[in-house]
Parts: sequence; C-alpha cells; structure tokens
Amino acid sequence: MRQFRKKLSLKNLKRSFSRENSFGEEGPDAHFSPSDESLDSSPFSPTGSEPSLVTDATNNNHGHVRRMKSEGDNLAGRSKHKVKVSTDFGKRRALSLQEKTCSPFGKLETYKKLCLLGEGSYAKVYKATNKVNGGLVALKEIRLQTDEGTPFTAIREASLLKDLKHVNIVCLHDIIHTKSNLTFVFEFVQTDLSTYLEKNPGGLNPHNVKLFLFQLLRGLAYCHRRKVLHRDLKPQNLLISEQGELKLADFGLARAKSVPSQTYSNEVVTLWYRPPDVLLGSKDYSWQLDIWGVGCIFLEMLWGHPVFPGVKNHKDQLQKIFMLLGTPTEEDWPGVENLTEYKETVTRTHRPRPISDVIPKISEIPGAEKFASQLLQMNPRKRISADLAMKHEYFSDLPDAIHHLPDASSIFILPEIKIASEHRWIV
Ligand SMILES: Nc1ncnc2c1ncn2[C@@H]1O[C@H](COP(=O)(O)OP(=O)(O)O)[C@@H](O)[C@H]1O
Ligand SMILES: [Mg+2]
Repeated sequence: MRQFRKKLSLKNLKRSFSRENSFGEEGPDAHFSPSDESLDSSPFSPTGSEPSLVTDATNNNHGHVRRMKSEGDNLAGRSKHKVKVSTDFGKRRALSLQEKTCSPFGKLETYKKLCLLGEGSYAKVYKATNKVNGGLVALKEIRLQTDEGTPFTAIREASLLKDLKHVNIVCLHDIIHTKSNLTFVFEFVQTDLSTYLEKNPGGLNPHNVKLFLFQLLRGLAYCHRRKVLHRDLKPQNLLISEQGELKLADFGLARAKSVPSQTYSNEVVTLWYRPPDVLLGSKDYSWQLDIWGVGCIFLEMLWGHPVFPGVKNHKDQLQKIFMLLGTPTEEDWPGVENLTEYKETVTRTHRPRPISDVIPKISEIPGAEKFASQLLQMNPRKRISADLAMKHEYFSDLPDAIHHLPDASSIFILPEIKIASEHRWIV
C-alpha cells in the first residue's frame, strides 16, 4: 500500500490533485508518460480469490448500453488533460525492477485473460485469473495513446479508489503500467445491475430492491463522508456479486469538475440519471447529484424500466422529469427561474403526479413511495442525504445491527439478511 501511495503521489500528480477542491476540480498540467513495459511494479497484496460464475454479456433491451459495450461515459476533453510523470523515473525504475524480481504484482503475466466483460469509450474490461492464486479478477485496460500520456480520468479513478476501502465499493487490487496500456486489476464481481435487470424483466423482487438500495446508500454515504461524489451512478456502474452484494464501480468521473455530455470519443453520455438542477444549468451541486441517481435507480429496480429515459437532449430529459414530478416553481424551489436553462426549457406547466400512477406496485411497499419522493426532490436542497436515507422508515424492517457494521463487513454477515429468488417473484 505504501508503494501505491508513492506511485500516485508523484510530485506533479500531487500538485494537480492539491488544486482540487473538496468535491473535486480537475486542473492538471502534468503528464504521465509511459516509457517502459511494466514500469511500476505493484504495491498490492494478493488478490482475486473470489469464486464466481461466468457472466454473459447480453443485450440490454431497456435502453442501456450492453455490458459488453458499456457506455462511454467519461470526460469530454479527456485528451486535453493528460498526466505525464517526467520526474524520478530512473530512481523509481531501479526500485521497481528490484521489486519486480520478487513480487508477482504489477505484472501483466500474473493474469490470464478469460473473456471480455465490457467495453467503454476508453477502457475494455476483461475477466481474468490470477495465475499465482487462481482467483478471479477484472482487468480494466485503459488504452494509452502515444505522446498523450495517461487519461486523467484513469489517474483520478486510481487515486480515489486507493483510499476508498468499503465492502460496497469495488476493490482495486493492482495496477499495471505498460507502454500501451494502464490496467487496473479489480476484484471480480459476477454481474452489474443493468445485466441483472435485463435478466429479470418486469422489476426485481422488492425485498432485493431494498437490500440493493441499502447497500448503494451505504457505499455512497461512505464516499460522501469523504467528500467524494461518484457523479455517474447508473445500473451499468453498480456491480452485483453472486451473494447479492452491491458495489459501486467506475469512479472515472468522480473528480471531474463538470458533468460532461459527451465522452472523449464524442459519444453521448446518458442523461437519464441526471438531476433537474444540473440539467437546468446549475453548477452548484454536491452530494445531491448522486442522490437523484439513487432515486432513479430505485424506481428502475422496482419497475424494470428506466424512469426518465430522455431520448434527445437536456430539454427532452427535463420534459420526462416534469411530466411525472411537475414543473418546478419558485415557490417550492426558490431561485429555479434564475437557472441558465430555465426560460428556454420550461415552456409549459405540468402538474405533479403520484409515482404510483406510473409504478402502481410502489404503493404496496410500505414507505417506498414517500422515500422515492425524498430522493427525487426537484429542489436539490430538499433531497435527503445518503446517511439519513439509510435511517428512513422504508428500511425499518431491516435489523438494527445493519447500521453498526464495520466498513469492511457485508450486510450478508447478518443471519437475517438474505437475497431472495427473483424467479419466485416473477412467477
Ligand atoms: N470488477 C468488475 N467485475 C466484473 N465486471 C466488471 C468489473 N468492473 C467493470 N465490469 C464490467 O465492465 C463494464 C465497464 O466497466 P466500467 O468500469 O464501468 O468502465 P467504463 O468506464 O468503460 O464504463 C461494467 O459495466 C461491468 O459490466
Ligand atoms: Mg461504466
């Protein structure tokens, strides 16, 4: 771990990160230039002992990208922000060569690729085995373009994840740096929520929805306490283990200054999980951004369909939201009319509808509708925090001990907590 810290706190990198404010701002002018195969040997501890099943990459028929072709959800302007580490390489290389002789980590040959799990705009994710201990891992391979250095999203993802140690956040085991790629070695997790939803159409078992949601909030509360926003919550970025553990993944946007509309390769980033304040032009967002995403994911798990599947642009996305939750007014959201996009976007008035109009089964689940509306408050100031959300009456049938678990303990260590069969629910 000490080595990892050393690697990611290189002088230039440190300088650029120290410019970031508490909830993050990018601004690197440093560059990270690969100049040798496996430049850094890895600092990590043994990994990849989780047993698992092979996960099929299947089509997602409700509008998400496929797991195999995960949404290219990253930074506009990625090419502008490359990190080049030009200092200390000689010394570090000598050190790492020494380490390389005795450590299997930081080396590509330690891992054997099995199959492709997902492909985004700048990364491919493979299922692989660790040849040393036989365990399964996921390799997130980030292409490096000659001269351009390392995509800053990748550095951000690594530097954040090294400090986020929580059972509901995917664990980064190792980093391998070669001339052409930067590879993150993650614990392998059986599937993602998008694939899980697709395999269980028509909505999930409400008991499982509650357990997934609680774990999502648990991972998020941990991030928010550390002033880290995820910024890109969506089913594809939530991994689900065989046991039903949910893990936040893909922290590539977690320190971006703004929420981009296009990726590095000009693909459109999904707006479905983006809150109305950000769509209306507000730059003054914080943890409330992620909470809106939680609300959307909650309803999607219950219903089986994305709740606000905007198809065209920001305006269209806002219309989808207003049609369910009503057009925002100065009365319930003071200042909304001053937001830059308000005048152009809010052209007609919609009255709010009960969520149960669209998702009737929500009214059969005690506390669920009220809870959803607290997550999906249009006015960000009224949105409930992750910490408070975990205490909501909707979760009151979960054992009290669930609130006192150490960060490293899964909710499934509690004997009362078990994932239910989705199959039985559908039949
Ligand atoms: N640790 C993992 N275990 C298993 N599958 C993973 C893991 N990490 C990512 N994946 C799969 O790969 C996809 C893309 O990974 P992600 O980190 O979201 O990359 P991108 O930045 O390209 O979206 C995910 O949607 C998921 O299906
Ligand atoms: Mg992703």
